[in-house]
Amino acid sequence: MRVGILTGGGDCQGLNAAIAGAARSLMHEYNAEIIAIEEGFLGLIERRTRKLSLHDVNHILDKGGTVIGTCNRASPFNFKGQDVSGAVAEYYRELGLDGIIAMGGDGSMTLCYEMSKLGMNFVGVPKTIDNDIAETDRTFGFDSAVNVAAEAIDRLRTTAQSHKRVMILETMGRYAGWIALHAGVSGGADVILIPEFPYQLDEVVKAIEQQAAQQSYTIIVVAEGARPVDGQISIRKHNISDSPDPVRLGGIGNFLQQQLEACVDYEIRTTVLGHVQRGGSPSAYDRLIATNVGCYAAALVAAKNYGKMVTVHNNHLSSVPLEAVAHNVRGVPKDDMTLVSALAMGVCLGDPELKIPLETLHDDTLIMG
Ligand code: F6P
Repeated sequence: MRVGILTGGGDCQGLNAAIAGAARSLMHEYNAEIIAIEEGFLGLIERRTRKLSLHDVNHILDKGGTVIGTCNRASPFNFKGQDVSGAVAEYYRELGLDGIIAMGGDGSMTLCYEMSKLGMNFVGVPKTIDNDIAETDRTFGFDSAVNVAAEAIDRLRTTAQSHKRVMILETMGRYAGWIALHAGVSGGADVILIPEFPYQLDEVVKAIEQQAAQQSYTIIVVAEGARPVDGQISIRKHNISDSPDPVRLGGIGNFLQQQLEACVDYEIRTTVLGHVQRGGSPSAYDRLIATNVGCYAAALVAAKNYGKMVTVHNNHLSSVPLEAVAHNVRGVPKDDMTLVSALAMGVCLGDPELKIPLETLHDDTLIMG
């Protein structure tokens, strides 16, 4: 067997563990030759590949980033204004690959699905700190990012206490608020604002006044994709050419600060956590998920079970057709257990319509996302 591996889209912690899992098990179990495609789909477009040895993938699982590079601006369907998908499919045939294990987010899974229509065999491995890929409960990178954000909240709390300030922490999370929600709950935030539930400013003001009466400071966590109920999402950059998702978000933290400064007298400071959330070593949990999904992807390739993405569902590994994942996002549902816990503890989510789903609670069927 000759198997390609690529990592596409934004990087995240755990990619090297997944590469190691896939490559080592393919070499060990199936005596396969492993071809690294450099910088994701860009390597397929620019014909940049190299053979990986066991030495190349041994002892990389603790490293952040990806040893084979990535790129989130390389769609074969729109590369510098050209459709080069035919040339990419031709290169794939020239390489003599049985298939490619593609590790990526929603954008990469969509590209895999579209490229598989041109005769290329893909097995997808979901990765993103955002944890928002459809059909899977968990993506590696998420746990590490949540740990970084939760630690940031701990650090903001002590200085917030000293100065009696309102502290806003802006996390990543473009279309889904998983990082903000999990970090916010595990860091004990007072207000958590996420894209799924546009916020009402007066709810946030009310929460600040309540906190002022009790503890003299407030911690607010806001996901970059959050927006006021009567306003727009905060976009930092429009029209990034060649990117499957051409916008980059940012700015909601500072925008919220301005909104609040017009309503309350307290001092407010904003911290934008940014790419710190994506860098550095993966947590042990992310290393484990990444290793398992990498090895599982290798088994799918060996079984010639292509056109699938590996999924984690109710603690089981399985796979779904790429078609089910393409053009889809998994947001935080109203009956998510962590969301319900936040509501139950009186954390402000900015949306007065959000209520604890009592029937679901009694049925004991709440999901921990
Ligand atoms: O999708 C992962 C992610 O980290 C998002 O949370 C964020 O909006 C985006 O990537 C940032 O992309 P870039 O690395 O291009 O700035």
